[in-house]
Amino acid sequence: MKVIAFNGSPRKDGNTTILINKVFNELEQEGMETEMVQLSAKEIHGCIACYKCMENKDQRCAVKDDAANEYIEKMTGAQGIILGSPVYFMDVTPEMKALIDRTGFVSRANGGMYRNKVGAAVVALRRAGGMHAIDAGQRHRARQLEGMQLLHIVLQGTLGTNWSSALKIVA
Ligand SMILES: Cc1cc2nc3c(=O)[nH]c(=O)nc-3n(C[C@H](O)[C@H](O)[C@H](O)COP(=O)(O)O)c2cc1C
Repeated sequence: MKVIAFNGSPRKDGNTTILINKVFNELEQEGMETEMVQLSAKEIHGCIACYKCMENKDQRCAVKDDAANEYIEKMTGAQGIILGSPVYFMDVTPEMKALIDRTGFVSRANGGMYRNKVGAAVVALRRAGGMHAIDAGQRHRARQLEGMQLLHIVLQGTLGTNWSSALKIVA
């Protein structure tokens, strides 16, 4: 079973990376394959509302000049999806929001492409806005990626354990 984590921080080895790796450590102990994608490594911009995905229904974004379709494929190929982001002004980073909007709209156009996958949000912060950012990760998953099973984030090392149990049930 594979878990893909998208890291919305521009800091490659920052706090979000540390948190995602903590979850990965537990998943790997359960024999799961893990991969982290650093969103800052490649361009991804917001949805342009062309609605072509609603016409085409080909599981692709019609805008092909950035990494959105590569990330859609990575999500399709995984059983678990983690959205990791630092809190920026009480929310997820623009890169993470672009990922949510682009992958979510294509999923909706195709009847819920991530049905029966397990999703979770991981958030790093300094002071405030964490719950909103977690909501952004979790609720966007629930609404836009439709049908994905969700787990509430549990810190202190239990997320990975909960995750592996859920993955074994769902996947
Ligand atoms: C532009 C910017 C905005 C931020 N806004 C918030 C905020 O609203 N609340 C907060 O608690 N931390 C805020 N932070 C702090 C980061 O969330 C925090 O340092 C986080 O651990 C960074 O994670 P990273 O090392 O993965 O980038 C902000 C940082 C930056 C650069």
